[in-house]
Amino acid sequence: MQLTQLLLVHLLMGLSLSGPSASQSILQPLLSPIVGEVEKLLPIPGALIGALAPYTSVLNPLLQSAVLQNNLTQFSSDVVTSLTGLVGVLVNAALPVPPYIRPDSEAPKFGFSGEAYNVTTSDGYILGVFRVRNASCSAYRAVVVIPPGILSNAASFMYIKENSLVYRLARRCYDVWLLTFRGYLFGRSHTTLSDKSAKFWDFYPYHWGAYDLPLQLEFVSNKTGSTKLRLMGVDQAGTALFFMNHVHGQRYQKLLAGCYLFAPIGYLGRLRSLAFATLALLRDVLTTVGATTLHNEFALMNPTVHSVLYNLCGRISPLTCFYLFQTLAGSSNEINYKLFPYAFANLLDSTSIYTMNYYFQQVGRLKYMAFFDYGEAENLRRYNRSTPENVNLAATTVPCSFYALRQGTVTVTDDIRDTFKALAPSAQSTIEELDNFNSVSPFVPVDADGLYGPPIRQMEADLRRLS
Ligand SMILES: *[C@@H]1O[C@H](CO)[C@@H](O)[C@H](O)[C@H]1NC(C)=O
Ligand SMILES: *[C@@H]1O[C@H](CO)[C@@H](O)[C@H](O)[C@H]1NC(C)=O
Ligand SMILES: *[C@@H]1O[C@H](CO)[C@@H](O)[C@H](O)[C@H]1NC(C)=O
Ligand SMILES: *[C@@H]1O[C@H](CO)[C@@H](O)[C@H](O)[C@H]1NC(C)=O
Ligand SMILES: *[C@@H]1O[C@H](CO)[C@@H](O)[C@H](O)[C@H]1NC(C)=O
Repeated sequence: MQLTQLLLVHLLMGLSLSGPSASQSILQPLLSPIVGEVEKLLPIPGALIGALAPYTSVLNPLLQSAVLQNNLTQFSSDVVTSLTGLVGVLVNAALPVPPYIRPDSEAPKFGFSGEAYNVTTSDGYILGVFRVRNASCSAYRAVVVIPPGILSNAASFMYIKENSLVYRLARRCYDVWLLTFRGYLFGRSHTTLSDKSAKFWDFYPYHWGAYDLPLQLEFVSNKTGSTKLRLMGVDQAGTALFFMNHVHGQRYQKLLAGCYLFAPIGYLGRLRSLAFATLALLRDVLTTVGATTLHNEFALMNPTVHSVLYNLCGRISPLTCFYLFQTLAGSSNEINYKLFPYAFANLLDSTSIYTMNYYFQQVGRLKYMAFFDYGEAENLRRYNRSTPENVNLAATTVPCSFYALRQGTVTVTDDIRDTFKALAPSAQSTIEELDNFNSVSPFVPVDADGLYGPPIRQMEADLRRLS
């Protein structure tokens, strides 16, 4: 398959060269045209994926009835977990991976104070909540909460060091709180379940919205005494917010005064990324592999996978991963690969296979955001209806500003516009398209002012209007 070959070429070329600076000049002219070619293959007609997907779902009922319910998958997962753990130890001995970036201990290195708390959801997940601020500010302009981005974690917006969104806000005397969703780093503990059990990973963004986000908003509100929290985030922060508001209405939404989101994922039907479109087609194969090998974990933080990723992207050839990201998420130079040796301590983070599958279910269907589709029989069992309920986007009433990223091939502008228009009228504050960025840029932009400037300025205009 063309894509696999392409990725292989990237890996081999990257590995054969010593460092990012040496490889940059040699690889740039070589690989740029390849990325261009891949872009030309796009878009994959979404309708095709929509039409084909049911036929790839044959595995699903089988999994629901037999395999997933059986301890055999847990057993095979345990074997893989142990083996990869061992390989991870060996790789790590040769090429050690740096410790994770922990927001509370990292912030002081940049002159800010850091605090860490844990909250426990009603279904037992223990989630880290972090506070970063300038302790010398005499007053704080607002409390900003930042949920994690997809395949990232509470450090999502700390990856470009002093230019990071978190420090920018703290420098301007905002009281910044970094949240955790179950499954990510700082969210891998549970009162009864092990993070190596299939049951631990039986979640998708609905659970972030129904449990994780509201609990943490309430916690931050209690701690700060503010009921005018400002939520900033990227991609899945939107998904969680829309689920929260659908499930809980105003109950937690009333703690928010504004939302500022880069490429929020509500509708995802027009996805143009060849790699993700391919995965969307194979989503039930992915589910099967996930269930039988790694307890439903999309296991990017598995010790072996993390070691290999860190060593490739953070040590041996950041530039290779720059091109990989372009291939995955859209051609853009706004990917600060020079900081990969720092950022990849926390990237890419694990999530559940169901989370990936959930997003893939929306590909190829316009204006579609629903609960997880388990297939007819299982839907009847879980929901008492054959198809899943739609998420009511109009339940979101808090004023929101959306920032579409023009170069992005995962969440594309037209989907973001449709999502925006489906919110309650009071929620449709502003929508804007930023030119040079793709779906990875929010984590690691080069032009940090160009990306983070617009939402910060918007928030400050909103604050001025209030006072
Ligand atoms: C799986 O194992 C647990 C204990 O390890 C047991 O309680 C449970 O009944 C087993 N499930 C099946 C389907 O065998
Ligand atoms: C924190 O605020 C104080 C007082 O305004 C200022 O002098 C200091 O530079 C700030 N620290 C950082 C890291 O921005
Ligand atoms: C939060 O819980 C984790 C896992 O139980 C623990 O390692 C960590 O130290 C706790 N953090 C705080 C601030 O209590
Ligand atoms: C917030 O405070 C209320 C009132 O004291 C309390 O009932 C609730 O449990 C607290 N929530 C969290 C998450 O700390
Ligand atoms: C399931 O749906 C049917 C028809 O919509 C309804 O009559 C029945 O009461 C529902 N059962 C439960 C347990 O909600």
